[in-house]
This record gives sequence, C-alpha cells and structure tokens, in this order.
Amino acid sequence: MVDLRSDTVTRPSLGMRRAMAEAVVGDDVFGDDPTVNALEARVAELFGHEAALFAPSGSMANQIALQLVTPAGGELLAGADAHVVTYELGAAAAIGGISTRTWPAVGAGLDAGQIAGMIRPRGYPSLPTAAIAVEQTHNLGGGGVVPLATLRSLREAADEAGVSLHCDGARLWHAHVADGVPLAEYGALFDTLSVCLSKGLGAPVGSLVVGSAERVARARVIRKRMGGGMRQTGILAAAGDYALTHNVDRLAEDHARAAKLAAALSKFGVVDPDDVRTNLVPVDLGATSIDAPTLAAEAAKRDVHIAAMLPHLARVVFHLDVDDNGLDQAITVLSEILDRSR
Ligand SMILES: Cc1ncc(COP(=O)(O)O)c(C=O)c1O
Repeated sequence: MVDLRSDTVTRPSLGMRRAMAEAVVGDDVFGDDPTVNALEARVAELFGHEAALFAPSGSMANQIALQLVTPAGGELLAGADAHVVTYELGAAAAIGGISTRTWPAVGAGLDAGQIAGMIRPRGYPSLPTAAIAVEQTHNLGGGGVVPLATLRSLREAADEAGVSLHCDGARLWHAHVADGVPLAEYGALFDTLSVCLSKGLGAPVGSLVVGSAERVARARVIRKRMGGGMRQTGILAAAGDYALTHNVDRLAEDHARAAKLAAALSKFGVVDPDDVRTNLVPVDLGATSIDAPTLAAEAAKRDVHIAAMLPHLARVVFHLDVDDNGLDQAITVLSEILDRSR
C-alpha cells in the first residue's frame, strides 16, 4: 500500500527509534531535559533567533506564537486558506481571544501591497492590526512557496506599521530546499516562527516556536497553560534532532517525485506541473467527471491512498516512506482512473 495522503503518515525509522531509546532525559517542565534543551538551542540557531520552545504539535506551536504577537482582543491578518484559519478549529479566537481578518485564498501567491493595505493603524475606535501570519510552504495552496521578495516587502510593510510577522513554517524546510533560501534568512524576516518535525522529516511528534528570548519565555508559560508542558520529552526531541540531521536535504527527492507525478498527470488537465514546487501535488478535478472523494476511494481500492481536500480537489503528498516504486504505482493507478473520467 502506498500512503500519499499526507507527509504526517511517516513512521520513525530504526535509526530514529534508536536515538529515541538512547536519549538522556529529565523533567522538561523543570527545564531539566538536556535533549530538549539541545534541540531548542539547535533550532534557534538554525533560524538565527535567540530561543526556541518544543511543542507537541504544529497547531499548538502556531497558537502559542499567535498569542505572543497578538494580544487578546487584537487583530490578526491571515489568508482565508491558511492552516491557522481553516484547520485549527477556531483556536485563535477560542483560546487567544484573537480577531482574525483574512485576505482571499491565494495560496502562496500573496500580494504584499494588498496585505499592507489591510493593516489598520492604531487609534480608537477601530481595532488595530497586531500581526500578520504567513504560511510557508502553503498547504492548501498546493505546497507553493512564497517568494523571498514578497516576504521582504511584507516585512517592510510590517515594520512601517509596527505590526508583527508570524510564519507558519510547518514545511519551511521544504521551501528552504526548493528555493535554497537559508533558514537564517527566513528567520530574519519573522518575529515568530513555528516549524514542524513531523511533516516530511519523519519524527512522530514535535514542533517548535522560534523567537526572541523574551517571547520564548512567555511562550513557555502559554504552553503550560494550554496543557503542553511535557515531562521526559527528550525521547521525542531525540527523534526531532535525528530528523534534522538526516532528513532535511533528502526532501529534494520528495520534490522530484512530486514533479514526476505532476508531469504524468498533466495530460489529464488536472495538474499544472509549473505549480508543483515541493512535495505536495494538488489535483484539480474541476474539468473531469470525477470528484475528489470518488477518486480517493477508487485509488484506495488499488492500494494508493490520497486525500480529498475539497469536493473538486485531491492532494497527493510525497514523503520519506514513499520510494520510486510507490511513485510508479501512484502514476499507474491515478492515470487509469483519470483516463476513464475524461
Ligand atoms: C501548514 C500547516 N501548519 C500547521 C499544521 C499543524 O500541525 P499539527 O498537525 O502538528 O498540529 C499543519 C498540519 O498539517 C500544516 O499543514
């Protein structure tokens, strides 16, 4: 069976499990876990920030960061198709008391000028914008990469208006590998970042909030309040450390397989290969006679598992547990179904 539903389905390798078993641990709520402390220091340094905090999930890391940059009752700007808007179940409002205003769903195709124009200045009685959240790479945007120039323009606009910039960098590693932008360069553009070790890098659990020492100290308190204070977490941090050492550069293989699938399916008019930049392949079935849930169900009968994201949109995701045989099987099965649905 080939599981292409998400890059979160990976299972820890033997080497990773060994590193987990051998991890030196302590009680991380007391700050005593050396393996967690080392991972946090490593990730902070990678992004050129002062500190980082290990969190159980990308959603929690995002929500901690949003509370850092947006006070309760404050306004966040984000894309209508952002993970923080669509898949975090209203957490920004329910937990952080944050009011979110969205720009249209454009995936990674942000218009920095349009977003800058949405920033509301301080001054009673309107609600001033406190922060802007950007997703890199963009999940619902088919793994698209926001260009560096756009991010720089947004940073300038944010500085001018005195608002913070957060990066939902669940797959920032993928953008780094696809475009060759150094992680520290991304780090320098954002006040806070969240990054995930469990998407494509093969760790079973784990994300980090990255930022200044002051912000990360506050993040530690918010994490505890949200129930995310964990004890002998070094077992998990060891998996993350192993993932960073062994599984970042190899993301290029996933990107190459995604590009091959996109090229193979392009003849059915469901994928534009130019849109496929990283490990996600969005399959737009709008012009076919099959919908996404049916395509996913038909493919699953033949042991190829993909995700139905929207009625007309399926998603195929490459990760470290899919090899060239898996790619070939996916091309064969999906091509046969799409051929019948023209
Ligand atoms: C862009 C993005 N941000 C955040 C998350 C949340 O991560 P988690 O599932 O660990 O909460 C995901 C999950 O897939 C994601 O794709």
